[in-house]
Amino acid sequence: MKPLIAPSVLASDFANLQSEVEMLNKSQADWLHIDIMDGRFVPNISFGFPVMEAIRRYAQKPLDVHLMIVEPAQYIEQFRAAGADTITVHYEACTHLHRTLQQIKATGAKAGIALNPHTSVQLLEDVIADADMVLLMSVNPGFGGQKFIENTYRKIEILKNLIISRNSKAIIEIDGGVNQHNAPLLLEKGADVLVAGSFVFSSADPLQTIADLKSSAN
Ligand code: DX5
Ligand code: ZN
Repeated sequence: MKPLIAPSVLASDFANLQSEVEMLNKSQADWLHIDIMDGRFVPNISFGFPVMEAIRRYAQKPLDVHLMIVEPAQYIEQFRAAGADTITVHYEACTHLHRTLQQIKATGAKAGIALNPHTSVQLLEDVIADADMVLLMSVNPGFGGQKFIENTYRKIEILKNLIISRNSKAIIEIDGGVNQHNAPLLLEKGADVLVAGSFVFSSADPLQTIADLKSSAN
């Protein structure tokens, strides 16, 4: 099956956000990946609700919202109201992850769990059945344009087995340093969704780059 492609708006030209979103509308992208950073969970600040609402005004595709913030439970309803279709929270930021996933689903959004590169997939054993998606960080969160961490392949294999063994419907998203070189092996190992920021937006032809990622063979 073809992967879902979720270009990360973080790498787009914020001074021309409307035309960037319109380009994504025309592309083969499936979702728009929205990175929210608070300067506490990660050492960087991206953007918040007003910018997300501006993206939503023009976007014709689902918004895949990745919350790199502490205490995300405080803001779930607000992100849903701002247009989030999927809301992903970090395992490392949630004391009551099970409750937070239910809170996300109660808004009507899909619920995702993100894992930092050092966080073991096995920790999801008792919550995987409640997740719609698991996002594996393949760089340390906080910045676009970083180098892909190779251990991710191994994590996908373990996660895939866990999903099957627990009868979970969760899909697997990979975020960080994704490009045309690592996409085929990521898909072969079991990835369903590929996030790509700098690879898409710094390419000469983002539409073609998205199309190439979409047709990556596995
Ligand atoms: C990193 C973000 C990523 C980032 C990916 O903290 O979660 O979504 O935008 O950017 P690239 O594809 O450039 O690594
Ligand atoms: Zn992200």
